Amino acid sequence: MDISVRKEELTTYACDLLVLGVFLKEKELSPEFAQVNEALEGKLVSFMKEDKFKAKEGSTFLMRTHGKIGAKRILVLGLGKKEFVSLESIRQATATSLGVAKGLGIKSVTSILHGSGIDSLNSIDCAQAMVEGAQLAMYSFDVYKKPTKISPIRFDFICVPSAQLRQVQKGIQTGELMACGTLLARDLVNTPAQDMYPEKLVKQARMIAKGKGTIQVKVYDTQALIRMGAGGILGVARGSDHPPFLVHMIYKPKKTTKKRVALVGKAVTFDSGGLSLKPADYMTTMKADMAGAAAVLGVFSVIDEVAPHCEVHGIFGAVENMPSGKAMRPGDVLIAMNKKSIEVLNTDAEGRLTLADTLGFAVKQKPQAIIDLATLTGACMVALGEEITGLMSNNDELAGQVSSAAQTVGEKVWRLPLETNYKKLVKSNVADLQNVGSRWGGALTAGLFLEEFVEKIPWVHLDIAGPAYAERDIDPYTKKGATGHGVRTILAYLKEF
Ligand code: BES
Ligand code: ZN
Ligand code: ZN
Repeated sequence: MDISVRKEELTTYACDLLVLGVFLKEKELSPEFAQVNEALEGKLVSFMKEDKFKAKEGSTFLMRTHGKIGAKRILVLGLGKKEFVSLESIRQATATSLGVAKGLGIKSVTSILHGSGIDSLNSIDCAQAMVEGAQLAMYSFDVYKKPTKISPIRFDFICVPSAQLRQVQKGIQTGELMACGTLLARDLVNTPAQDMYPEKLVKQARMIAKGKGTIQVKVYDTQALIRMGAGGILGVARGSDHPPFLVHMIYKPKKTTKKRVALVGKAVTFDSGGLSLKPADYMTTMKADMAGAAAVLGVFSVIDEVAPHCEVHGIFGAVENMPSGKAMRPGDVLIAMNKKSIEVLNTDAEGRLTLADTLGFAVKQKPQAIIDLATLTGACMVALGEEITGLMSNNDELAGQVSSAAQTVGEKVWRLPLETNYKKLVKSNVADLQNVGSRWGGALTAGLFLEEFVEKIPWVHLDIAGPAYAERDIDPYTKKGATGHGVRTILAYLKEF
């Protein structure tokens, strides 16, 4: 989608759809709205009244203009009460307008800047939110479908006061980057596991770094993993015909800095459960079990342009979890990179085995913060449902920073406790640890297991099992399929450096 700012007249500019946002229970019409209404001889307001359109959040009113103004149609978006309008409601409203445009087969959409005039919001953030909402709403994954001709939609901002022009342009730029990283993550996750196996993730990392002086990629193959003592990754990979890899991406900002953040992603390209085989119905979405790594790759794909002022390490252990005569068995003991031994009681709790190594590897980079993203437990979905990420952390300050980044981008997270009393549940009779807890609190015992591998470094664990992959349409910009969840939270967090 082509997005730009137009210095044109609101009522004469030719386009297929002009979008205006209105607040609920607002006495005065905005100047833009009043101008369009006047050009339409008051019909906009009178038809809205006739249809009992109140501007409730998410509501829409569509009208043809019959040549009275440059736009062929007008779409009025209900933004809800002015005092409750947030960046997220702007994102959602913009996505709704693009959904309407898509449905009508429209080619050009023009919109005023939503949210201007609200004291708590600035034009940069509003423009950014609109671009995110628009780009994410227009996404579809068509690689495996019969090709059809879909002409792209043009999206223009109009009626931006010249004082705000530069801010809106800046917002558009950031919004494009946020969306671009998210859409790459969606593509990687949506790609079937037959075409997205460990080696392909390595290829992605290399492609992202190519030509960018700020990103370096190191790849460790089976032999290197044996030398490093990465028993967790090697154990999970044993059942698969695809060899495993540990990928280490390093972003160094142009200005040297001592600040260092490590991002660790779960990268199980397909999780069959292994010998502890999943029931068929639970396996259908397991190509998405690399969504954590996809989020890390999404972040790295735009990191050069977002240009945070800290060093960022992206780390993932790419593996496939399959049953076979070579596969690890329940009862086997693996030795992780930090020398802790793990009794594998359930081969389906494989994510934490790979993370044991990748978190251990992250610790060696001596970062001040580690954030991992992992589709780790079904239990987290039982606790928080399909739309909320479980956040666990050994550090309140970092937990607060990540939560507030998530809040600004509209990704929902909720903190869960790392209850020390439950530590006993992951202790084993025959090894230092076991990879499953008891029947209850599965998200927490998984978090406690991971904590064993981060030493004392401030760390946040994001269990994205629910939100990474939508099994149904969630909202106007999160449709069925991969969501790219986590990319925008991490980018917003890194931007604060
Ligand atoms: N990849 C799954 C977790 C998952 C489930 C992600 C549903 C997304 C949707 C993970 O490897 C797993 O299988 N976890 C087990 C752990 C159990 C065996 C302790 C689970 O949650 O059932
Ligand atoms: Zn599993
Ligand atoms: Zn898994």
